[in-house]
Amino acid sequence: MNIQFPVQESVNARYSVRNYSDRPIDAETRQAIEDFISSMDNPFASQVKFHYLDQNAMQGQEKLGTYGVIKGAKQYIGTTIKSEPEALEAVGYELEAVMLYLANQGIGTCWLGGTFDRAGFASAMNVGEDEIFPVITPYGYPAAKKHVKEVMMRKLIKADQRKDWKELFFYNDFNTALTTAQAGELEFALEMVRLAPSASNKQPWRVVLTDTGCHFYEYKEPGYSDRFPYDIQRIDMGIAACHFDLAVKEKNIAGHFVTDNKPDIIWPANIEYVFSWVRD
Ligand SMILES: Cc1cc2nc3c(=O)[nH]c(=O)nc-3n(C[C@H](O)[C@H](O)[C@H](O)COP(=O)(O)O)c2cc1C
Repeated sequence: MNIQFPVQESVNARYSVRNYSDRPIDAETRQAIEDFISSMDNPFASQVKFHYLDQNAMQGQEKLGTYGVIKGAKQYIGTTIKSEPEALEAVGYELEAVMLYLANQGIGTCWLGGTFDRAGFASAMNVGEDEIFPVITPYGYPAAKKHVKEVMMRKLIKADQRKDWKELFFYNDFNTALTTAQAGELEFALEMVRLAPSASNKQPWRVVLTDTGCHFYEYKEPGYSDRFPYDIQRIDMGIAACHFDLAVKEKNIAGHFVTDNKPDIIWPANIEYVFSWVRD
């Protein structure tokens, strides 16, 4: 993947856009988006397939629904994966990189894992029987104003807020909050994780810094993923990996992701180890 966008500006520019303007995305920009997507990869051992849908091209067919959540969108990107380890993290990583790339060009997106007609979109995007179809996003230029339901949703899930460092980041064990001084050169990458989007803004990522690197854990909200056939919060973990990885790469800090480096520390209830970023 060739990162051609500044990480902090793109992270700050991205937010869930649920109301889109009529302004079309020109053919050249759409081609550049598809080229960027073709160049995508991820640090997990799983492949992500991208699917495109242009509602303008669906003549005579019923428009696909998002339960009134998304308005005015003409284009969608869908993702599919196989049922294999780390596939959800891989989707989180890759689609978030696409969203940051688009945000940097003023193009809006919105992660949709729940509020879309999954069967309708699956058929329109030719999703195969053996594929898992976890998330889609509309993309396009944002409308001047948010729609009423969107404003209400944002308030309800406190979409503009993020948890403090002391709730998310720890030093050597889960009893010691990490300070920015202890984080040192990794402060920026962790701050980028903190600002990431997540399903219902639950921010499930917890990170423990040790001598070897950063160990990422998932706070699994009891019952939250029950309505999905998979753990949707694993996608959030992949999004965290994306923000962290883009940030360390921008700062030239060498390291890589592994999934078999579970540190020997005790973790609280409802927390699961997911992966580590270890220094090279
Ligand atoms: C995996 C995932 C699934 C999501 N599913 C939905 C959804 O179904 N409907 C929706 O309106 N927003 C959805 N969101 C958007 C979140 O609510 C949003 O990212 C969060 O509230 C933070 O707001 P922001 O994106 O504007 O920063 C989802 C986000 C993620 C990461």
